[in-house]
Amino acid sequence: MENAVDVKDVVKIFNGNFRALDGVSLKIEAGNIFALLGPNGAGKTTLMRILTTQISPSSGQAYVFGLDTVKEGSQVRKLISYVPQEMSVWTDISGYENLLIYSKIYGVPREKRDDIIRDVLESMGLHEVSNRLVKTYSGGMIRRLEIACALLVRPKILFLDEPTIGLDPSARKGVWEKLRMFKNEYGTTIFFNTHYMDEAEIYSDRIAIINRGKIVTIGTSEELKHSVGGEILHFTLEETSLHGDVLKELEKIEEIKDVMVSNSDVTLVVDDAEMILPHIMTFFNKRNILVKRVSITKPTLDDVFLKYAGTRIDVSGRLSEVTQVRRMIRRG
Ligand SMILES: Nc1ncnc2c1ncn2[C@@H]1O[C@H](COP(=O)(O)OP(=O)(O)OP(=O)(O)O)[C@@H](O)[C@H]1O
Ligand SMILES: [Mg+2]
Repeated sequence: MENAVDVKDVVKIFNGNFRALDGVSLKIEAGNIFALLGPNGAGKTTLMRILTTQISPSSGQAYVFGLDTVKEGSQVRKLISYVPQEMSVWTDISGYENLLIYSKIYGVPREKRDDIIRDVLESMGLHEVSNRLVKTYSGGMIRRLEIACALLVRPKILFLDEPTIGLDPSARKGVWEKLRMFKNEYGTTIFFNTHYMDEAEIYSDRIAIINRGKIVTIGTSEELKHSVGGEILHFTLEETSLHGDVLKELEKIEEIKDVMVSNSDVTLVVDDAEMILPHIMTFFNKRNILVKRVSITKPTLDDVFLKYAGTRIDVSGRLSEVTQVRRMIRRG
């Protein structure tokens, strides 16, 4: 598989001694949606700025589709597009006019402009509002317009810095529905930064968690959650309590790490709940024990973060700040 991104031991030092990135390595397969998840100040934007050739690493290398972001920056810039964390459209002109300006900046040939602008408006679901002033748009519409601007160049890889920051859940869903449709049509690789765990979990193929300039773990959300270990299977039985012999037999099952019984509730700690569940159901069936209800509780990405970073991710302050800034800019 071709690597869309290959980062090798990248360090970025600011002000002579502050290591914003402290030896970051990661690879992203072409065609994947990749999430870089981390708290405020973790180094997400810094890495994205290196990959988009805006700044150079202090040491280490970063490659985009095999091209060195420092030595071959101008070639890299032809393949990529970038939507920054901050607002990147003008609010006192229309969506269409923004796209027209960007298409000129990007050097889209005059004869292709109309078609491409129509396409990106369509892709981001903005066709009907394209002639309205951007200051009348909702936050989600503005973000989709910013993404539309980035798509004018038909990038091989799209970098999105906090694509849905400050948006409500339905606007967030709207942004991602359009992004996914676009990705499926064009096979574009998407690299996004986020501090929303659910966004990383739902929309990415793979996730890297970054904290204080270091990648602390990387994998699919399933792999990451699985690595925390200790899934919980909870049964509610028809009978009030398990017979002592049955309990002993349960404890003998190798995959079960722990058993807790309280009246008609049986709680098992296991490695892989889905795998062991049929086995346990057969076990109960054979002994004529009726199960009323089963639930599986798995570690969340929050638990993953806690395990690898040693703290819980806290984003509350940052979020309201960004929402407020975007609102202020929109009002003009
Ligand atoms: N140009 C710079 N000069 C000095 N320090 C910087 C510079 N850019 C970033 N930093 C510092 O590097 C660290 C990482 O910043 P970065 O913007 O990459 O974090 P982030 O993960 O994107 O955070 P956020 O969620 O707030 O966007 C922060 O402590 C930041 O203050
Ligand atoms: Mg950032």
